[in-house]
Amino acid sequence: MPRELLNDLPRRVTIVEVGPRDGLQNEHGVVATADKIHFINLLSAAGFPVIEATSFVSPKAIPQLSDAAEVMAGIERRPGTRYTALVPNRKGMERALAAGLREVAVFTGASETFVQHNINTSIVGSIANFRPVIEMAREHGVRVRGYISTAFGCPYEGRVAPDAVLRVANELIALGVDELSIGDTIGVATPNQVVEISDLLKSAIPVERLAMHFHDTRGTALANVLAALDCGISSFDSSSGGLGGCPYAPGASGNLATEDLLYMLDGMGIETGVNLAAVVEASHFLASKRGLPPASRYYAAATATL
Ligand code: COA
Ligand code: ZN
Repeated sequence: MPRELLNDLPRRVTIVEVGPRDGLQNEHGVVATADKIHFINLLSAAGFPVIEATSFVSPKAIPQLSDAAEVMAGIERRPGTRYTALVPNRKGMERALAAGLREVAVFTGASETFVQHNINTSIVGSIANFRPVIEMAREHGVRVRGYISTAFGCPYEGRVAPDAVLRVANELIALGVDELSIGDTIGVATPNQVVEISDLLKSAIPVERLAMHFHDTRGTALANVLAALDCGISSFDSSSGGLGGCPYAPGASGNLATEDLLYMLDGMGIETGVNLAAVVEASHFLASKRGLPPASRYYAAATATL
């Protein structure tokens, strides 16, 4: 009998590179605008289908990304890469449209306390703020992604019920969001939870509209990707070098590192269109500006000298 394990996985995966946003929003030091632009250009050259480049949020909330307009004006937009940014409200959408964005991401969460800390409103309030954003997006033919943070656990409330995730997911889809990214903001998920949530969401939402966003805080991110692949999910968020964290999630470490994800997918023969060596180069450049080595395991192995 042939083994069934890992035989029926998606053959192609979309990687959404979120380092310039999810990573750089969390920097203690200042990364110069010109360095952000060069970093994004290197990521574009690596062939990502989607790069989340910045956030059009309140500069008081996230001063690190207050140069969003300059970044978008400075980068070279590679044909074949879609550039997206976070937008919390109408004002953010106006700024994003002015910067020529063709895709944006709204963001809420599955736990009340986190959403309150992150965007100063309730889950229902956040969704109300998205209504005009999505209307404007429709008018301008802009694609909208919706993040649901703390889908597996909340830094304030602990474990989050899968039903709470489904409720928010259904509301965002009803509002007209094209794709949902289900976030393990504090990196607590284990593969069985990923299967539970994926199966529940798939009962209501086409699997092509679901993406997973894992943080590697406790070392389970790649195992979670494998579980999600096994559920038919074929879109994953990751950050070059494993940059990131969340300013409103104490103790959150970085996103799943793109290099680590790519090494696994490449090895499994799953196509992404992204060049691993070029991602290492982008991480290397940013690391030289931050003065810190990337968290990525693959990066450490690839750059080790004997
Ligand atoms: N872009 C720029 N400025 C914005 C803005 C936007 N998208 N939205 C609000 N502002 C400004 C307002 O103009 C106002 O400025 P003022 O004090 O000079 O008048 C100030 O921010 C407060 O606006 P208000 O509408 O009362 O918002 P708030 O204080 O309740 O904050 C958010 C709500 C959502 C704007 C804010 O919490 C935020 O941007 N959060 C982002 C958090 C984030 O990115 N987290 C990481 C991602 S997971
Ligand atoms: Zn994240």
